[in-house]
Amino acid sequence: MNENSIISPDHMIRVHDRTFRPFITRDEIREMVHEIAGRINHDLAGEEVTALVILKGAMIFASDLLRCLSMPITVEFCKASSYGNGITSTGSLDMDGLFVDVTGKSVLIIEDIVDTGTTIRELIKHISGFQPKSITVASLLSKPSVHSETLTIDYVGREIAPDFVVGYGMDYASQGRQLDAIWVLAEDPIA
Ligand code: IMP
Repeated sequence: MNENSIISPDHMIRVHDRTFRPFITRDEIREMVHEIAGRINHDLAGEEVTALVILKGAMIFASDLLRCLSMPITVEFCKASSYGNGITSTGSLDMDGLFVDVTGKSVLIIEDIVDTGTTIRELIKHISGFQPKSITVASLLSKPSVHSETLTIDYVGREIAPDFVVGYGMDYASQGRQLDAIWVLAEDPIA
């Protein structure tokens, strides 16, 4: 917690200029992570996995998830952002640093939250060009009603309504990533 994230007596939290209410607890997150890890350990047993962590949002989810996985793993990072400083996706993608050669590898993309699906779709398109052995996607959260096209996400911790959330790696205006639980916008969204 820092001075930019203030919890009030009614458990509301202020991040930058907006108010959020409690949504998913640390214990619930832990359960979601273990459930996803169990399924990945089963499905990718014996594979050599290249985990591709999408920065910045997935950093905390990935660090918890990766420590629960039991196969040999190489960890790579790429930076993608579609939100800028707001609470709605801009629809355009700024992808940075994606030069990892994953030819013949079992790629596991680790994402914090899937909204329109643009980030995941663009990444899959890009990675497919390297002809990996397989591509699977793990996302802690997903907002299926906002997906712009049908999208297969192999491992999802929880499907949520199209609300804006913050914490556990996810930010609002670059703040709130350090919160150890997940909070949801308590105000009417003004994009
Ligand atoms: P998409 O490309 O529209 O699927 O957006 C995915 C990215 O937008 C995620 O990696 C997050 O960085 C960001 N994002 C989407 N929804 C939220 C949210 O509710 N809170 C914080 N970031 C979000």
